Amino acid sequence: MEKLLFKDIDEPGLNTIDVYRRRGGYERLRKALAMPREAVLNELLASGLRGRGGAGFAMGKKVSFLPKGAMDVYLCCNADESEPGTFKDREIMQKNPHLLIEGIIIAAYAAGANKAFIYIRGEYVLQADILDAAIAEAYAAGFLGENILGSDHSLSLVVHRGAGAYICGEETALLDSLEGKRGNPRLKPPFPANQGLYQGPTLINNVETLSTVPFIIEMGGEEYAKLGVENSTGTKLVSISGHVKRPGNYEIELGMRSRDIIYGLAGGPPDGRKVKLWFPGGSSSPVLTGSDEDLDLPYDFDTMAKAGTMLGSGAIIVVDDSTSVVEVAYKTAYFYRHESCGKCTPCREGTNWTLKMLDRIRKGEATPMDLDIIASVCENIMGHCLCVLGDAMAMPVSSMVKKFRAEFEEEIERRRQEADLASAMPEPELPLIQGAVA
Ligand SMILES: Cc1cc2nc3c(=O)[nH]c(=O)nc-3n(C[C@H](O)[C@H](O)[C@H](O)COP(=O)(O)O)c2cc1C
Ligand code: SF4
Repeated sequence: MEKLLFKDIDEPGLNTIDVYRRRGGYERLRKALAMPREAVLNELLASGLRGRGGAGFAMGKKVSFLPKGAMDVYLCCNADESEPGTFKDREIMQKNPHLLIEGIIIAAYAAGANKAFIYIRGEYVLQADILDAAIAEAYAAGFLGENILGSDHSLSLVVHRGAGAYICGEETALLDSLEGKRGNPRLKPPFPANQGLYQGPTLINNVETLSTVPFIIEMGGEEYAKLGVENSTGTKLVSISGHVKRPGNYEIELGMRSRDIIYGLAGGPPDGRKVKLWFPGGSSSPVLTGSDEDLDLPYDFDTMAKAGTMLGSGAIIVVDDSTSVVEVAYKTAYFYRHESCGKCTPCREGTNWTLKMLDRIRKGEATPMDLDIIASVCENIMGHCLCVLGDAMAMPVSSMVKKFRAEFEEEIERRRQEADLASAMPEPELPLIQGAVA
């Protein structure tokens, strides 16, 4: 398959403007600026590009929702990348920062935005420094600032570092954080396209989404749409982690068979092990199993949705049969309980209670009835929260309980017996420590 985003990714020095330009960098910007704004937007619409950050919303449509008028329009690039299992944006920013910058300038042109921000997670210190250096080079070369390449398009671009909260990847919490407030999700509507940063119209897109824009301008939207499958066009970066021989980032054409990604690209689980389950789109996606039926599914937005899960951020986490499903559910719930901002009750209380019940199983204190309670708590979280962080815990945990009920029941019984045995054991006598008595 011909690669786009990762075409030159291992080229030494690609993070510098000289090497990037030698590889054709910023020529797509030149081409875009010679086109009317509407024509650039039409290419984005024709490409069918869906957001790569998690929700999969059509990018061109989002740009077209921005009101036209006298107000300042903002562009925010979501580089928070906090969803467990996801590390693709990091590789783009670290190795090819100018691709992202070029994509931002073109997207800002289509959106009529003159001020842009990259909101990057605080832990990405190296990547933020690389971006800062690349932005300084782009300003010096006249690709950022006033009247870019002699056009009427001007753009300022600033990197803003977050402070380590997963919730700040949620687009409205990101905006609050960028404004200097505590990062809490806002009630929607109004959506950021109408009322976003500083109450102004705002386009928010993921790093990978924006980095794809130069290729759409280069190839033309229609040509780009020929890649992938219907309704899931183009290529996608997948981050594969967990029990596979070759974890890492891979660029695939959407619609590739999941088995070919997990076994073909990532080498499958260690020898002698089988895939027990896999998260297809980050830790918030309902899990699929190692069955042939699931592994043979084409990896695209619609197929994943039809299978009751989602493509999400494109992070595939593989768990083999050496791992207890109870531990996977516990770790998942632990993360979301910790990251809940606490603003709404079903998420704040529901994530906490789910974690406590999973811990009861681990400690040998649960009965199979607890599984029904976990399922019911998850049911009451889903769709009842201000943002989808609550669902992000409820969906994978309830899918594990549903698909691996027999294993949960076995573990409940085994751990109860172990706990009973431990409590029946006599207290061990403590050895005397010589000279410890005064
Ligand atoms: C709790 C939560 C965390 C999120 N974290 C991220 C993130 O780290 N990066 C990201 O691009 N999108 C994240 N999103 C999705 C964003 O809200 C938003 O949909 C996305 O930035 C839009 O960009 P896209 O259309 O290009 O995907 C998160 C959503 C939620 C609910
Ligand atoms: S769902 Fe959770 S993280 Fe989202 S606003 Fe409510 S409490 Fe906060």
